[in-house]
Amino acid sequence: MNLKDLYIDFFVKNGHKQIPSAPVVPENDPSVLFNTAGMQPLIPYLMGQPHPYGTRLCDYQKCIRTNDLDNIGDTYHHTFFEMLGNWSLGDYFKKEAITWSFEFLTKVLKMPVEKLAVTVFAGNDIIPFDEESHDLWLSLGIKEERIARTTEDNFWIAGETGPCGPDTEMFYFRSDDPVPEKFDPEDNRWVEIWNDVFMQYYKDENGNISELPKKNVDTGMGLERVVAVLEGVKDNYASSVWKDVISEIEDISHLKYEGNEPSMRIIADHIRTSVFISADNSGIKPSNVGQGYILRRLIRRAIRHAKKLGIDVNSDWESRIALKIMSKYENYYSEIKENKDVVLEVLKNEKIKFNRTLEKGLREFEKVSSKDIDGTTAFHLFDTYGFPIELTEELAKERGINVDIEGFKEKFKAHQELSRTASQGQFKGGLGGHSEKETRYHTATHLLNAALKQVVNKDVHQKGSNITEERMRFDFSCDHKLSDEEKQKTEDLVNKWISEGHEVTVEEMKKEDAVKSGAECMFIEKYPDIVTVYSISDFSKELCGGPHVKNTNELGHFKIVKEEASSAGVRRIKAILE
Ligand code: ALA
Repeated sequence: MNLKDLYIDFFVKNGHKQIPSAPVVPENDPSVLFNTAGMQPLIPYLMGQPHPYGTRLCDYQKCIRTNDLDNIGDTYHHTFFEMLGNWSLGDYFKKEAITWSFEFLTKVLKMPVEKLAVTVFAGNDIIPFDEESHDLWLSLGIKEERIARTTEDNFWIAGETGPCGPDTEMFYFRSDDPVPEKFDPEDNRWVEIWNDVFMQYYKDENGNISELPKKNVDTGMGLERVVAVLEGVKDNYASSVWKDVISEIEDISHLKYEGNEPSMRIIADHIRTSVFISADNSGIKPSNVGQGYILRRLIRRAIRHAKKLGIDVNSDWESRIALKIMSKYENYYSEIKENKDVVLEVLKNEKIKFNRTLEKGLREFEKVSSKDIDGTTAFHLFDTYGFPIELTEELAKERGINVDIEGFKEKFKAHQELSRTASQGQFKGGLGGHSEKETRYHTATHLLNAALKQVVNKDVHQKGSNITEERMRFDFSCDHKLSDEEKQKTEDLVNKWISEGHEVTVEEMKKEDAVKSGAECMFIEKYPDIVTVYSISDFSKELCGGPHVKNTNELGHFKIVKEEASSAGVRRIKAILE
């Protein structure tokens, strides 16, 4: 049996009901981006609401902690981890909790008592020394020298306010050195493996502590650490949790783990977390805000490290790693099984998007990194090459130079305000309701129109157009079905223009002047006397109400998905921006 099953089995035997893992994206708690502990979805019940499963619960909970995302690469940090936990909602308290913890560690997992140590709450002005826990450990066979007393580290709360209480933490001596007689929690050969929190208090916004209606127990055991301890490895990524994922990365990169640990750990960790975020039924996609931004940072950082290892980043490397990871979790988490295709799609799309600018961005970074990076440059790397600021920071750190983060933030804010003003302006002009996506499709329509004129025939004219969030449809005059070659050339030309980054300019002029200047339009009689004309370089000029993007490089990758007959002499293209 593996650790998850052993844990659940033990606590179910002791009267607990297993509850399912809550989603990684909290359903009713907008105050946090992700679930960070097993107790998070249980807060209402710790506060006194009756739980439908009763008063003794246990589970394994998917958790994501991103506060030390940039520390990933060492032997024991993970952005995603599984937390095993058992709870008493006003049922049992210290005696049972501590006794079961001890029993599970020493009898089920067979950890030698000599390798265990604990901490207990030393007491402060408000809450006294936790003598009861201290005495319980002593009675179970933990020696006095192995019981350390601390204050700050032995009081647990998720964030600033909420249910909280003194706790007792369990440690395992993970080293080949002789076990020291006296336990020092600061000595990092001692690894924390489990935490029993006695949640009997509530802390409010003013820092006041009051008693909860009931005395609860909340425990949390980090699965990857305990597996590493049980398997006798000093590097979490060398345990069975990761072994085959690391082998897959070795296979893909044709490199050994030894000597390439940090990058391989980052890739393994970040792809795993990305798998769990994108499999979540909340439907998070990479973006520049909230959970989507974390997802974007994770995928892009993994790509950068894959490149560092010499992996062909355009190959299906990320799918291979993701599939390996999903095969390990699909029997425990149904969304992994159900959303496999979604996960692969999300990873692939973000990879394609980032790969398009990564190479150029890295070259740009080379150019600017002879000295510290100012805010404007950092913003340029973000805006034009899609480098999350944290990635620029990481690259800078490798070079031993600094990044002006404050300067970047100012630029970022100014940019946000500018686009907000722009979209309010659009709204006033009656063009509200166009999403960013639709705006991109508007501009892509102009590019397609222009490309068809160059590739197929200069007499191609627009006959109709329809845009949704998902795709564009473009009808045009043409007397034949497009050949594969014509389609490919059209697609390539549009993508060339996108990647060249042409500005989209707009001017107002009299309708007759616009027509004389050669601006394209569909139904000239429908337009007012003064019209707006959008131009892109020298290849596109159209009468149009907009809205359009500012630069073609905002469009993403253009792809024709279908070409078919629409009516006599009119063909229809459906295309998407990826
Ligand atoms: N909620 C406690 C923790 O996360 C158990 O450590």
